[in-house]
Order: sequence, then C-alpha cells, then structure tokens
Amino acid sequence: MFGGPPRTPTHTPVAQDELAKLARGLMERVPGGQLNPQLLAEAASDLEAPLAHVYAAAGLVPMLQFTRENQVVFLVCSGGCQQFGAVPVLEKLLALRDQRNAANESSFDVHTRGCLDRCEQGAMVAVFTPDGVAALPKASPEIVAEAVADALGQSS
Ligand code: FES
Repeated sequence: MFGGPPRTPTHTPVAQDELAKLARGLMERVPGGQLNPQLLAEAASDLEAPLAHVYAAAGLVPMLQFTRENQVVFLVCSGGCQQFGAVPVLEKLLALRDQRNAANESSFDVHTRGCLDRCEQGAMVAVFTPDGVAALPKASPEIVAEAVADALGQSS
C-alpha cells in the first residue's frame, strides 16, 4: 500500500488494517464511488474514526472519486507520504476548510490520492486554482496554512 521514498520516515502512518477497514466502509457507503465532504464526515462518525484517517483511506481506493465543490482544491498524497506527515497536513487542511465554511468565507476542497509521483518530496500536496496547479513539496501544517491564505486570503 505504501510506495514510500528511501528517506528516514518522520511520522508513523495510520495502521494498514485501520485504513483497509475505513476503505471498505467507504465503498459500502458510496456504491457510485462519488465522495463529498458530508459523506466523509458521516463515515468518520459512523466508523468512529478521525476524519483525516477517513480521507487518507479514501485516497487509497482508485474507484472512489471526490466531487469538486470549490475552485481551489488541495490534493494530498495519502499513500507513502503518510510517513512524512501527510496526516497532520490533512488534519490542518480539514480544520481550515471547516473554519472557513463555518464563517461563510471562500473555501476549498480537500482531496486525497495514493501517490502524486513526487515520492521523494513527501509530504506531497498539489494545489489547484483557477491560475493553474502548484506543487507543495515537503508540506507541513504550517506550509499548507500559508498556501490556503495565499490562495483564498486570510481567514477572519
Ligand atoms: S507516495 Fe508518492 S507522492 Fe506520496
């Protein structure tokens, strides 16, 4: 499941059996394979799992596709990049997204994928905006918070 780069890991990934259980739970909930934030939140609640773990699991199942709801999308590698902090990055992005949504501010989507083909630069994040795609190599919670503010302005 993890095709990680040959660096010394900095983080412990979510256990593979937990990811497999969450992936199965998602597939049972979305026969059509389309994921949206509400469905992912409900799955996390039903499966009693952290939301970021559910997002990480979703990225590992190619048949599951995220619906696009905003012009700005943060796509996080949730495969081998878990060894380099992808889960804390996801936690930060999900918290920032929810904060912006609650404040009725312009917001963004959080999507995941099992690999973004830049494994040596994990945690790898790609940011899609109307201006194009930007890579955030070696992403951290601080780096993605800055990127959200750059793309959408500071949250009030
Ligand atoms: S494991 Fe390949 S980019 Fe993350």
